[in-house]
Amino acid sequence: MVQCLSFCIATVIDNSLSVTSSDPPTSLSFNEGEALSLICQASTNTIQHVHLAFAWYLHKEGAQDAKPIISLDRDFTLAPGEGFEQRYRDAAIRLDKLDEAMYTLNIAELEQSDQGQIYCQAQEWIQDPDRSWYKISQKDAEKIPLTVKAKVVTSMSVVEVSLSAQNALQEGQELLLSCGINAQNLAKRFFSVAWLWKGIELAKIGPTGILTVRQEYIDRERNGELKATRTGNNNYQLRIKPVKTTDKGSYSCRAWPEERGEDGNFNQGAAQDSQPMDINIFTPESGLSVKMENMKQPLAPGEKLKLICEVDGVKGQLSVTWKRKPTLSTSSLFATIISLNENGVTEKAGAFTSREVRVTRPTTNKFVFELADVAEFDSGTYECTVSETQPNGRTQSQTQNVNVSVKSIDSVVKMALRNREPTVTVGNDVQLMCKVTSPRVPMTLTWSKETEDSNLNTIVVLYSNGSISWSGDQYRYQVQVDNQGNTIMHNLKVLRASHREAGKYQCMVSVFLHNVYKKLPPSNLVNVQVQNPASKLAISSNHIIVQRINTDIQIDCKVTSRTSEFSLFAVTWELQQDAVKKTILTSDHNGIITFGKQIEESLMKRISMRHTDGPTFELTIQQVRISDKGIYMCKVAEYLQDPWGEWFSLSDKNSTTNVNVTEPEKKLFVEKNEGEMNISIAEDFSIPCHITEQSSKESQFQVTWFWQQGTEVKTIFTAYRNSTLKASDKNVVVRYDHPSPRQFDLTVLKSNVENSGMYFCEVEEWIHAPADEWQKHAVEKSGNLNVTVDAEGYAKAATDLTWQASTWIPIFAITVSICLCIITILSCKLCRRKTPAGKNSGHPLWTEQVPLDLNA
Ligand SMILES: *[C@@H]1O[C@H](CO)[C@@H](O)[C@H](O)[C@H]1NC(C)=O
Ligand SMILES: *[C@@H]1O[C@H](CO)[C@@H](O)[C@H](O)[C@H]1NC(C)=O
Repeated sequence: MVQCLSFCIATVIDNSLSVTSSDPPTSLSFNEGEALSLICQASTNTIQHVHLAFAWYLHKEGAQDAKPIISLDRDFTLAPGEGFEQRYRDAAIRLDKLDEAMYTLNIAELEQSDQGQIYCQAQEWIQDPDRSWYKISQKDAEKIPLTVKAKVVTSMSVVEVSLSAQNALQEGQELLLSCGINAQNLAKRFFSVAWLWKGIELAKIGPTGILTVRQEYIDRERNGELKATRTGNNNYQLRIKPVKTTDKGSYSCRAWPEERGEDGNFNQGAAQDSQPMDINIFTPESGLSVKMENMKQPLAPGEKLKLICEVDGVKGQLSVTWKRKPTLSTSSLFATIISLNENGVTEKAGAFTSREVRVTRPTTNKFVFELADVAEFDSGTYECTVSETQPNGRTQSQTQNVNVSVKSIDSVVKMALRNREPTVTVGNDVQLMCKVTSPRVPMTLTWSKETEDSNLNTIVVLYSNGSISWSGDQYRYQVQVDNQGNTIMHNLKVLRASHREAGKYQCMVSVFLHNVYKKLPPSNLVNVQVQNPASKLAISSNHIIVQRINTDIQIDCKVTSRTSEFSLFAVTWELQQDAVKKTILTSDHNGIITFGKQIEESLMKRISMRHTDGPTFELTIQQVRISDKGIYMCKVAEYLQDPWGEWFSLSDKNSTTNVNVTEPEKKLFVEKNEGEMNISIAEDFSIPCHITEQSSKESQFQVTWFWQQGTEVKTIFTAYRNSTLKASDKNVVVRYDHPSPRQFDLTVLKSNVENSGMYFCEVEEWIHAPADEWQKHAVEKSGNLNVTVDAEGYAKAATDLTWQASTWIPIFAITVSICLCIITILSCKLCRRKTPAGKNSGHPLWTEQVPLDLNA
């Protein structure tokens, strides 16, 4: 089906590529030298095997085009973009593929030149059968403006101050307030650093390292409960242990440069304060407890996660914060999801703005957390922290956590494909049912059929929004979707199936969850068999044909019953002779005749086939020969038209005819009367040869007369079929007569004593053989005539003759007179034309006078 690659792809994979930046910030602002980390998701929904190429792009301010920072090409080769090579070699720029769809960009130290629009791009590539690659789609994620602030060369007077500390502590623990300062030429200068509590300075380290403590804290300092140290050029620490609940409140840090004057005194520079920080100190003996309730585990993708945090023994105002640490994450930190403060105001963390998440407080001591449409990556440890502000102003908090697991989408979607009937007859519908059991998530279902080379051809794609995209012939199928809650029945009806619709079918689902396409394992393959309708074909032909040689025969192969009145027939004629089979001729369903390769030219010329109504196929063989004998088989295949107009054949039927070719019977008969004759010298006598029966009307005869004395046999005379006459014995003078078609006579003229002996004739009967040939069919001899020639001229012939005396004497007399006439005519002609004597072939009745041998 794949004829035009680009076209097919366009229809198959439209909208299959998805690229998003995860939780995209609207803009990014960094200082020069800071690290940048970005995540992008790219996935594809094609059933074809495609490769994704992925790249991070930077469109620098003022530059014409965006340039790649780093890219992963379709062969999975990583390459830095132009200008980023050195930083790539220094491992300061990295592209990592975290999972199936997640790509990260890490830049260790941002440079000012990195400022611009940053985005990721994915491309889908497919390989053609000729192994060349084609880009079939490309998508860019949203561009994020990236600002990199130059490191400001701070003037001598500018000091940056920061404070870090743990913001919640149990009473009795250590409070560590770490103060960082940053200024130019730090190591060579002097600074004073002070810690402030609720705006009041409580301790100060001077430029020479001398600690000054506020009056109220002097006792604690003496007891070692308060310590302040300079731990480095840029860091100063204040430790209070044990910390009391009264120590809670807002802390900040203040620093100022001290410039030594010419008099050796320090001159105070401008002071700079850090951001204030609220620090809570809780009493451990609080009545607060938190527990998770109502947990259904594990969750299916798309379900709603609901956690309840219940509080006991509450006295004051409550706030709650929900955090989590995903299982898949490498970080060991809990990240805030959502919080609810004392005033009932909820605040969602930036990473969850696109998620449906909320926290409610149905009763005073219950906090319900709900996260909708969970996916596998939502698995992790969820933590609820409830803080209580007591009437006396003290705050304490309690934390509880619980592990939540969400099943992977693969493990919950079940697919089963079956067909109502494994085998259908041509022209009937095929009904395939794909049962998808799944939680309610948007899914795309693809119906496909396996091709001969085991690829899959998409028939139709049904998208979650209800749109349908056909790749197969829409008129051949019907799709239907029956939604039964967690079970969706997808039906594919193949209308009026032909043999082309036979094969293996499959249904496949892909889901779009949290901006990522996920292809799920496809269904089982289901085989559809398309069978021919039952054949009603019946044929018959002549059982046996016995025919004389040289005549024509006709074998009729008749269709006596057929499957459809619109069917066509292909016929093959075969001949079997001595266990060897050969095809004589074939007529296809369009009536085109071809001769078999093994048949001889002589048969090919004499054979023909005719198709008559009935239908009957008549095979005619003209002028049959003995070699045509054998078993003739006609094989008939019935052709029907499938619903799409293509002809297909049903199984053959055959019928045989035994053909026998016979020669005519041998019926030749020559009169066999025995005779004896006493004649005087110089008398004539006749040796008749009379045929009384012949095998065929068209027979031709060759007649030969013999003389025999003792064992010596001599041929005297032969009359050939071609009317040539031949006298073979010089000592015998003969005359040949052929008075009627079946009567041949030889008369020995002027006999002498040597002519005594036994005489007989032999007749060869020749009949038509194939190919205008003649063949000797039968040989018969006459009876013997014993002749005695008396030297004294004693003639008693009239009384001695027992052998046809009464018949041959008158014939002889007539013949002699005719002969004399003809001889006279011939002599005249000979004189005039000088033509060779004695021959007048073509005349049926004629006589020849063989010239006398003068030596006799
Ligand atoms: C006639 O037939 C004989 C025997 O077949 C042959 O020898 C002879 O040459 C033939 N004569 C002619 C004129 O064909
Ligand atoms: C012919 O002659 C022989 C001997 O002379 C004699 O024996 C025989 O009977 C004769 N045959 C006839 C038919 O006269």
